[in-house]
Amino acid sequence: MIADVITIFPDLVESALAAGVVGRARERGVVDLRVRDLRAFTDDRHRTVDDVPYGGGPGMVMKPEPIWRAVEAITAERGPASAVVLMSPQGRTLTHAMADAMSRLDRLVVICGRYEGVDERVTETLVTHEVSIGDYVLTGGELPALVLLDAVTRLVPGVVGDAGSVEIDSFVRGLLDHPHYTRPAEFRGLKVPEVLLSGNHAAIDSWRREQRIRRTCERRPELMAQADLTDEERRAYVARSTTGADDRTEEE
Ligand code: ADE
Repeated sequence: MIADVITIFPDLVESALAAGVVGRARERGVVDLRVRDLRAFTDDRHRTVDDVPYGGGPGMVMKPEPIWRAVEAITAERGPASAVVLMSPQGRTLTHAMADAMSRLDRLVVICGRYEGVDERVTETLVTHEVSIGDYVLTGGELPALVLLDAVTRLVPGVVGDAGSVEIDSFVRGLLDHPHYTRPAEFRGLKVPEVLLSGNHAAIDSWRREQRIRRTCERRPELMAQADLTDEERRAYVARSTTGADDRTEEE
């Protein structure tokens, strides 16, 4: 996957993309992520990227021309983008399914919005997807772009060493993840659940599955309708939710 990020804070974005799993995937050439300084596409002495809003009102609006030139330059260099994404609180909220779909695209362009927003002509004609990372407003699209690229990059085959760890992640099958423990087996009097020390893999799998379902019911009940459950699991879930029974104390 190739992705180009357009930002007025290239150093911030570059340093974040150099770290950890994403940084290593870039070094290995599994993904090709490049950061573009929006100001390099301005044509005035002050390298202006924003201007006052037509119609008045507070704040500034990002000018269309530098963004347009940046996308044109990227297209000339890389070929046409599969998606031009604008990070904005007005967008559709990012989900695992969106990240998964984007991880299958060849070429992404991600525009980091700033100020009050981006000239609507850019959004209407250049942008194919407007994406929000949640119902809160940040000072700009850089952190959201990093969230998007992190979520997308780790789903590109070969990025995460153990594909199984991506497979069972929260949301992959509509359920939250199970709890994780590492050594020591006892820490300040707190013990790791016995079953995980048993070496009985069937018992461990079934305990983890049960934990995922239980956590999802407790923390995100709205996910249960879409969750990928066996008929038996669904019957048990329905029985539990209609009787209001919580079997937690029996097992823990
Ligand atoms: N820019 C500012 N806030 C944002 C959000 N919540 N998601 C995406 N881009 C943003």
